Amino acid sequence: MKVALVTGVAGGIGFATAELLLENGIAVVGMDVLPQMPKELEGEFTYFQGDLSNKEARENYVKTAMDKYGKIDILVNVAGVAPKVRADILEMTEESYDFVMNINTKGTLFLTQAVANIMKENNSGSIVNISSMSGYTSSTSRGEYCISKAGVTMITTLFADRLAEYGIMVNEIRPGIIATGMTDKVKAKYDALIDGGLLPIKRWGEPSDIANAVWTLCNGSLPYVTGQSIDVDGGFHIRRL
Ligand SMILES: NC(=O)c1ccc[n+]([C@@H]2O[C@H](COP(=O)([O-])OP(=O)(O)OC[C@H]3O[C@@H](n4cnc5c(N)ncnc54)[C@H](O)[C@@H]3O)[C@@H](O)[C@H]2O)c1
Repeated sequence: MKVALVTGVAGGIGFATAELLLENGIAVVGMDVLPQMPKELEGEFTYFQGDLSNKEARENYVKTAMDKYGKIDILVNVAGVAPKVRADILEMTEESYDFVMNINTKGTLFLTQAVANIMKENNSGSIVNISSMSGYTSSTSRGEYCISKAGVTMITTLFADRLAEYGIMVNEIRPGIIATGMTDKVKAKYDALIDGGLLPIKRWGEPSDIANAVWTLCNGSLPYVTGQSIDVDGGFHIRRL
C-alpha cells in the first residue's frame, strides 16, 4: 500500500485530496493545525494535529507516518494561510509577513526536506506542492501571501532539480479561485469578478478540481514530468486582448 502525507488536510483542498487518494487505495497520514477533522474520511486515514511552522511538530508528523508504515511515497503540501488582515504593501507588518511565510514557505520547505531525505532511500516518490496564481499575480493588499507562494514555486524547482536523480518527481498545482474556507470571506468580490468575465471558464473552481490534478501528478502516470507547474484556474493565466 502506498503512503501519502497531506498537510492542511482539514481544509477544502486538503480534504478533497485526501479523499481521492484514499478512494484510490492510498494510506493517508494527514496533518492540520485544527484539533480535529471537520468530517470523517473513509479508508486508511490517520490524523496528526500540528503546526506546520513548528519544527518539532513537523518531526513528530513524519515520525508518526514512519512508525506506522516505515515509508512515504507521496507528499502533498497543501497547508497554507492568507494574512489575518489584508493590508496594503506599504503598511504590511513584519508580524504578518512572518506568520504567512513561516507556514506557507518555511514550513513547506522544511517538511519537504525531511520527507525528501526519506524518499531518497527508496529511490522513488512524488511530491506535489500547492502554490497559487498569487505566486505570479500581484495583490497589493496581501503581498506577503504572493511572496510566500512565489517561494513555493522555487521550492518546487529546487527539489525537482535535486531529487530527479533519485526518481523523485516534484511538481506543483497553481490553483485559481477555489471555493473553500479561505475564499469564503471574499465570496462576493470573486462572484462579481467571475460574472464580469475574469475567467474564460466562468465558474468557481472546486476542491475536487485541484484534487484531480494532484492525483494525475502523483499516481505514476507522468514519470517524465518534474519541476512542472499546472495552472488549475479556469484559464485565468491566459493573457487576453
Ligand atoms: N482557495 C483558493 O482559492 C486557493 C487559491 C490558490 C491557492 N490556494 C492554496 O491552497 C491551499 C489550501 O487552501 P484551501 O483553499 O483549502 O483553504 P483552507 O483554509 O480550507 O485550508 C487550509 C488548511 O490549512 C490548515 N493550516 C493553516 N495553518 C496551518 C499550520 N500552521 N499547520 C498546519 N495546517 C495549517 C488550515 O487549518 C486549513 O485546514 C493553501 O496553501 C492555499 O494557499 C487556495
